Amino acid sequence: MTDNVFHQDFAISEEQRAQLKDHKSLMIWFTGLSGSGKSTVANALEQYLVGKKIHTFTLDGDNIRLGINADLGFSTEDRTENLRRIGHVGKLMVDAGLVCLAAFVSPLNHDRAALKEIIGKERFIEIFVDTPIEVCEARDVKGLYAKARRGEIKDFTGVNAPFEAPEHPDLVIDTSIEELAASVERIYKFIQNKLSL
Ligand code: ADX
Repeated sequence: MTDNVFHQDFAISEEQRAQLKDHKSLMIWFTGLSGSGKSTVANALEQYLVGKKIHTFTLDGDNIRLGINADLGFSTEDRTENLRRIGHVGKLMVDAGLVCLAAFVSPLNHDRAALKEIIGKERFIEIFVDTPIEVCEARDVKGLYAKARRGEIKDFTGVNAPFEAPEHPDLVIDTSIEELAASVERIYKFIQNKLSL
């Protein structure tokens, strides 16, 4: 399908965009079970970064699935396509000079490996939000664990669909034992030197 399509080069470089914003760009990818706290941590981190005049944008599984990916479900194939599209959207954001935060369950190793390829390993930070499933399930903010246990969702991650823990995440966060502010500070410390020009 891309046989007669050719990559076009444009003059403005990644370095120029970083100079203009006064920081480098980055993808901060949160992976973890539904209810683990990915979006909550991303939201708090984004506010912290904006407070430091860093240009950000957050991509979130639920929001994206209500829009650009509304045609996709939760089969293995659909999750792969969901994450492939987000990978390319995220790449554009990082190319554009932003610090992009992405909160997706992204349960499979091969999908996360593909994301790193799309965005570029050196621009990709993987954060595993490793909150125990018992805690995620007790929170059950959206009532989805209860539905899955009743058999009303057939492919719910952690209940009847797999979650493969990342093998070498850059950071691990357990929101059941660490204060939100402490998680944010830990992430900021880790990314600080990657953002400086
Ligand atoms: S992913 O697996 O393709 O990365 P994504 O992060 O986009 O998932 O969407 C997950 C969100 O969709 C969850 O936070 C949850 O609210 C909702 N959801 C609905 N059905 C499922 C399901 N079968 N498995 C996981 N999450 C689901």
